Amino acid sequence: MIDYYSFWDLNRAPFQDNNDPVFYYKSSDHLEALERLHYVTESGSMNMGMLSGEVGTGKTITKLVLMESLLKANARNMIVNINSTSYSYAEIMKEVLYQLTGIEPDNLPSRRYSLEIKLRKFLENKIDKSNNRLFLLFDEAQKIASRDLDYLKDLTNITFGYDSPIIIILIGQPSLIKNVEKLPQVNQRIGMRYHLTHLSQEETVKYIKHRLMIAGASQEVFSQEACELIHSKTNGIPREINRVCKISMDIASMERIKLIDQDLVTIVFQDLENNGQ
Ligand SMILES: Nc1ncnc2c1ncn2[C@@H]1O[C@H](COP(=O)(O)OP(=O)(O)OP(=O)(O)O)[C@@H](O)[C@H]1O
Ligand SMILES: [Mg+2]
Repeated sequence: MIDYYSFWDLNRAPFQDNNDPVFYYKSSDHLEALERLHYVTESGSMNMGMLSGEVGTGKTITKLVLMESLLKANARNMIVNINSTSYSYAEIMKEVLYQLTGIEPDNLPSRRYSLEIKLRKFLENKIDKSNNRLFLLFDEAQKIASRDLDYLKDLTNITFGYDSPIIIILIGQPSLIKNVEKLPQVNQRIGMRYHLTHLSQEETVKYIKHRLMIAGASQEVFSQEACELIHSKTNGIPREINRVCKISMDIASMERIKLIDQDLVTIVFQDLENNGQ
């Protein structure tokens, strides 16, 4: 097999499903999502935000880009990133404290009250004049039980002076919206929200070119027609776009084809459909 990278003149893989923020493409949708999340994190008057979106539309990569900018904005900001939210409330709190303090979860108390006191005490020593904050980012938040969402909202009642230093961002698939709507006390606290959908045809073309450019490509790899077909078949969902682009490039490099056209992409889609994917 010939060297993929040298065949395409690339310095990294362009369509890996790995959420590397370096590949982030700011479509109008992603930009709006990011701006709204920044609004929550910078406002000082909002303590909760929500990013929902269809599967594979870019919620997690947007979260990672946000995390980078939060640390750039103030190196004393604290970020807790929780991905596995089928945890119970006590487990979530233990994970929060573990990420903040390094204390092993087995050495932390289990009662809600004791865990919250521990968090408050920790923050008393950490929040300073730099106006730093604690950001709790919950990915896959559609899995958090209603009662636990309610408890998490209560964390924003931890205040020093008038303000709470805790900002909670819920990130999740569309069922998160319904879960939150069932809890008016949580719903009302969400100062900003955004729902990611999918890329337009024009943006799908730009997205493909953008990822290739970041990977080092200096020439066109997909024809315009190939990109348009990819858009219509994937409905502009980034993860789906990545998958078909990656397979197409694998095949093209084996066949030594430099410009991927509509015919090659058609074969890839037929193959995926025949295999029930
Ligand atoms: N704006 C973007 N720029 C670059 N790559 C993106 C963008 N949006 C999504 N992707 C890529 O598409 C894939 C899916 O994105 P991501 O994992 O963020 O989706 P998700 O909405 O979190 O999906 P899920 O609902 O499964 O959690 C990843 O490989 C990611 O790198
Ligand atoms: Mg995700």
